[in-house]
Amino acid sequence: MALLEVENLRAGYGSVPVLHGVDLAVEEGSNAVLLGLNGAGKSTTLMTLAGLLPVTGGEIRYDGEVLKGPPGARVRAGIVLVPEGRHVFPALTVKQNLRLGAWTIRRDARRLRGNLREVYAIFPRLEERADQLAGTLSGGEQQMLAIGRGMMSSPRLLLIDEASLGLSPKLTEQVFAAVKLINQRGTTVLMVEQNAGVLAQADTAFVMQQGRITVSGSGADTLGDEAVKAAYFGT
Ligand SMILES: Nc1ncnc2c1ncn2[C@@H]1O[C@H](COP(=O)(O)OP(=O)(O)OP(=O)(O)O)[C@@H](O)[C@H]1O
Ligand SMILES: [Mg+2]
Repeated sequence: MALLEVENLRAGYGSVPVLHGVDLAVEEGSNAVLLGLNGAGKSTTLMTLAGLLPVTGGEIRYDGEVLKGPPGARVRAGIVLVPEGRHVFPALTVKQNLRLGAWTIRRDARRLRGNLREVYAIFPRLEERADQLAGTLSGGEQQMLAIGRGMMSSPRLLLIDEASLGLSPKLTEQVFAAVKLINQRGTTVLMVEQNAGVLAQADTAFVMQQGRITVSGSGADTLGDEAVKAAYFGT
């Protein structure tokens, strides 16, 4: 049984449908990638999984049970979204931003300290900058902070929306390496990306077009798939 099973999922904004029957499954412990061009419905998918948009058809199953309930309950169940655009609090320090990510475990001081150590182990840069205002961080550092903040509530399933957006190739590589490490340390990951470079580290890949999954397979197979290149890169 996969940790996350999405079957014929439909969702959208008010009366505007965007997802027209999405099927995908993410195995526990794996690193999965959802690729697609602008407007394909990738963010809509993650927001629906996080409980920020209602399901209008089909089903999401998490850990064997139909997933419902508000976003906060899903965070407590281990589903954490790192949204597109980072959204760090610029006037708060790095450490304060991280503590806000630990809201669900705020009463457990030991766990909070442990998670902070874990985040600093993955992102040493954040420890160096712990007392710096988040608004003064570089784009890459802000992305690390956004992911680190997500890690503070000990997610079982981490959803990351376009971490590489606007980053240089070098920083993109660093962020992807950090996500790989997070996955190797036991967190199941579903990343939304437009950068196909991420396929090299993905166990499973899904390609989304106009609200549907049109290709799915292993990361390596998808990377070498000519049909994917044609559909995805328009070559
Ligand atoms: N708040 C909204 N209200 C109405 N329609 C929306 C809203 N947000 C997104 N959409 C529409 O839903 C469709 C899918 O958008 P979505 O943001 O999921 O795409 P995406 O794959 O994440 O694209 P990108 O790579 O540009 O982030 C688009 O046609 C978009 O215009
Ligand atoms: Mg998006």
